[in-house]
Amino acid sequence: MFNTTETPKPLVIVTPVSESEVQRVILCAKKTGMHVRVRSAGHDYEGLSYVSKVPFVIVDLINLRTINVNVNDKSAWVEAGSTIGELYYRIAEKSKTLGFPAGVCPTVGVGGHFSGGGYGTMMRKYGLSADNIVDARLVDANGRILDRVSMGEDLFWAIRGGGGNTFGLVLSWKIKLLDVPEKVTVFTLDKTLEQNLTKLIHKWQNVAPRFHEDLFIRIIIRRVDSRDQGGNNKQTIVASFNSLFFGGIDRLLPIMQENFPELGLRREDCIEMSWIESIMYFAGFPIEGSFDVLLSRVQPTTRYFKAKSDYVYQPIPEGGLEGIWRFFFEDEAQSSYMILTPYGGRMDEILPSDIPFPHRAGNLYKIQHLVYWDKEGEEVAERHISWIRRLYSYMAPFVSMFPRAAYVNYRDLDIGMNNKKGYTSYMQAKVWGMKYFKNNFDRLVHVKTKVDPSNFFWNEQSIPSLTS
Ligand code: FDA
Repeated sequence: MFNTTETPKPLVIVTPVSESEVQRVILCAKKTGMHVRVRSAGHDYEGLSYVSKVPFVIVDLINLRTINVNVNDKSAWVEAGSTIGELYYRIAEKSKTLGFPAGVCPTVGVGGHFSGGGYGTMMRKYGLSADNIVDARLVDANGRILDRVSMGEDLFWAIRGGGGNTFGLVLSWKIKLLDVPEKVTVFTLDKTLEQNLTKLIHKWQNVAPRFHEDLFIRIIIRRVDSRDQGGNNKQTIVASFNSLFFGGIDRLLPIMQENFPELGLRREDCIEMSWIESIMYFAGFPIEGSFDVLLSRVQPTTRYFKAKSDYVYQPIPEGGLEGIWRFFFEDEAQSSYMILTPYGGRMDEILPSDIPFPHRAGNLYKIQHLVYWDKEGEEVAERHISWIRRLYSYMAPFVSMFPRAAYVNYRDLDIGMNNKKGYTSYMQAKVWGMKYFKNNFDRLVHVKTKVDPSNFFWNEQSIPSLTS
């Protein structure tokens, strides 16, 4: 949606090559009153890293991409312009038995991703990326370079999940690397409405968040159009049960037999592979191909899209699921998806206040709603966005309430925003802030007020400073 001629363009794009250059850019912007947007790999769903209605400069971190992996102390320093694909690649270069929990799409940047949480197939085992950050280097609103000790625990807490471009510009993260077995198992099983899909998803809601933490099965739901033998159009809903297991097939099969026999998983559906091959598998690359594809910063396809997120506390009844399928049969839903990601495991053990990301025990799963379209133009966009908003309204009785929770990395300006640069109302920000951060919102406001009272780092959904 952000590559049209009407999209506001930056006055300048700065691509610093060193920490001190970043520092100078921030000092210069502060002195001249220039508004700054920080870009790591530019995946923000609302384009907040590269679009602004007020005149702005982009600080693009593309040249800050050094990754130093230390297998001896199981840690790595990762510069904030790196992508998670580059990080996975550099870890696998050094070790077959170390990994890191982050997202599925390799082109996502660690700058924004870790700032908002960052989850992927390893989250039930190890939590989020942000749960596994042990240090960071950052330029604050006064142009100072700080590390964990000099920034203090409050600011270090806030940058691990409190959202990007709010508390400072992160230069690099130090992360804890985690043990992965030499052999993991993956599978993807597709089921259609005609194969009892509604009942399977209903059962999944009860079992997937309670599986052993080594087992992660997410569901990707979409509509499929085809023609029958008589040439008539046929539509159905397909759900892909898409799984990573931390172990071999022999251990996985009995777990599935005991907990979810209805899925009908067979040995021949499963593939054993290394952890880095599983990264390739989930990213949609052939596992026998070169891992170099993980270094590419270019997304394989780019399309217009709108996304929203939800958290589920109670299983959605079968009738509720059937109501969702009706939305999928509408015209605008030809290219729409619902991705259900199970929680539980390690996610239940981490306290909601440990980092700003609050969605922990009690959540069965998270939903990502997505709709895509290809044609440029207001009318087409409007139709698709209105479709996803209607679906979102329909979901209200089935998902979290008071607040209706959302994931900050699935940025959604529909849920509220700050009104203009320089003025951010606490009450206004609280509307969306409670959805993303729940009771952590007030602590984030407190930290923001302390470290950036003049609101230098600002965007449509940055945390307000009480003194700005
Ligand atoms: P981008 O550069 O746009 O930054 C996002 C925000 O962070 C902006 O506000 C930006 O200013 C700020 N920021 C960036 N670098 C910063 C820095 N160094 N210091 C301070 N602020 C900084 N999420 C997930 O959890 N799991 C997943 O599997 C996926 N998969 C996925 C696939 C695709 C195709 C997309 C487009 C997105 C995802 N996401 C995701 C969501 C993703 O985590 C989210 O969009 C991140 O913010 C993207 O980070 P980038 O650095 O790429 O974005």
